[in-house]
This record gives sequence, structure tokens and C-alpha cells, in this order.
Amino acid sequence: SSKADMKGKKVLVTAGPTHEKIDPVRFIGNYSSGKMGYALAEECASRGAEVTLVSGPVSLSLHNPAVKLVRVESAREMLAACEDVFPSSDVAVMCAAVADYAPRNVADHKIKREHSDVPVIELVKNPDIAATLGKMKRSGQLLVGFALETDNEADNACEKLQRKNLDMIVLNSMRDKGAGFGTDTNKVTIFKADGAREEFGLKPKREVAADIVDAIMSI
Ligand code: C5P
Repeated sequence: SSKADMKGKKVLVTAGPTHEKIDPVRFIGNYSSGKMGYALAEECASRGAEVTLVSGPVSLSLHNPAVKLVRVESAREMLAACEDVFPSSDVAVMCAAVADYAPRNVADHKIKREHSDVPVIELVKNPDIAATLGKMKRSGQLLVGFALETDNEADNACEKLQRKNLDMIVLNSMRDKGAGFGTDTNKVTIFKADGAREEFGLKPKREVAADIVDAIMSI
């Protein structure tokens, strides 16, 4: 895109999974590739925005040197980075697949295979980064979330939009082939806080990113 409609805007994007440490060699994670978040960060930067990308562990590289990359591992680290950057942001897009739970204790030595007992890993709830930023949000700031649902998709997405105080939510359907985790394409429906809803076709993630940014700029 040759548009420069985000010039002067500061944008925060989260991307990728989080890894929640069990011991020095193991973690709880998920299959998020980070592709959608990286595409969004690149799209915003190419349209003139000043972008900070807070990324969980992924094996992707950035093509646009204008994107400031902050690497984190866990949900708690991602929250801290976002709390730091959000107050001076105009737009925040929460694209990361944040782990819902983390082990209560991180073992400082590799957990050994037991002869009799199977280890039990006690979990604690992770902070909800999007909801935390939703509470911090000032007028003029725009907060965008994602939803990945298997059933009651639209209802669940709209409930999340309200509960987390978002201005817009992007629903990826698990039902669509070529959409969601790991793929290079995505198929989304965008719901805005005013009730407007727009459905898009299956396309490369960079084009999906352009549609999402168009929707953001229309608010
Ligand atoms: O509640 P759920 O995980 O389905 O919500 C998805 C949205 O909330 C995404 O935008 C995701 O990045 C964000 N989220 C978050 N922190 C969490 C869980 C979800 O920012 N702990």
C-alpha cells in the first residue's frame, strides 16, 4: 500500500504465543506462529505509523526496520512491556495468543522422570493483557482484539469486545480451511463497538492486515 494514512500515529501490536516456564528446559506454549501480528506491524509501519511490536517467541523476521521489536517470553513479561508502551500509543492491536495459565512455581532444576509418581504441575491464571489495557484506556485511544472461536463465534466475539472494553474485535474462524494458526492466509469478520460488522474472504495475512488497518482508520 502507498497510503500514509497512519503517519504520526503510535501503534502497539502484540504477536505470537507466550511460553510459560515449567523448568529450565520446558514450557507450556501454543501453536501461534506470529504471522498475523507481524503482518499487522509491517502494514501499520508501511502506512507511516510508529510501531512497537511486542512479540512472544517466534521464528519470524521483520522486513521493515522502522518497527521497534520488543521480545518477551511469558504473559507477565508481555503485560509489563504493554503497560509501558500503551500510555503513549494511539492504537493497540492485541494479536498475541497469550497462554491462559502459567505454572505456579518454576523448578530451578530440570524435573527428573519419577520412578513411581507422575508430577503434577499446579497452574495459576495469567493476566489478561487486553482487558488490562481496556481498563487503562483513555479517550482517543483505540484498542483492538482478536478472537479465535469454535462455536457461537459471533456471540463470543461480541461478548469479548464488551468485557475487555475493546473498540473492535477481529474474529478468525477455526472452521475455515486456511485460516488461523500457522497458515499464510486468514479469513476474518470484524465487529466494531457500534455494532457494525464486516465479513472478508480468504486472503494472504498481509492483505487481511490491510483490511484491519482500513477498519481501524474508519473509526
Ligand atoms: O479471552 P480470549 O483469549 O479469547 O481473548 C482473545 C483476545 O484477548 C486477543 O486479542 C488476545 O490477544 C487477548 N488476550 C490477552 N491476554 C490474555 C488473553 C487474551 O491480551 N491473557
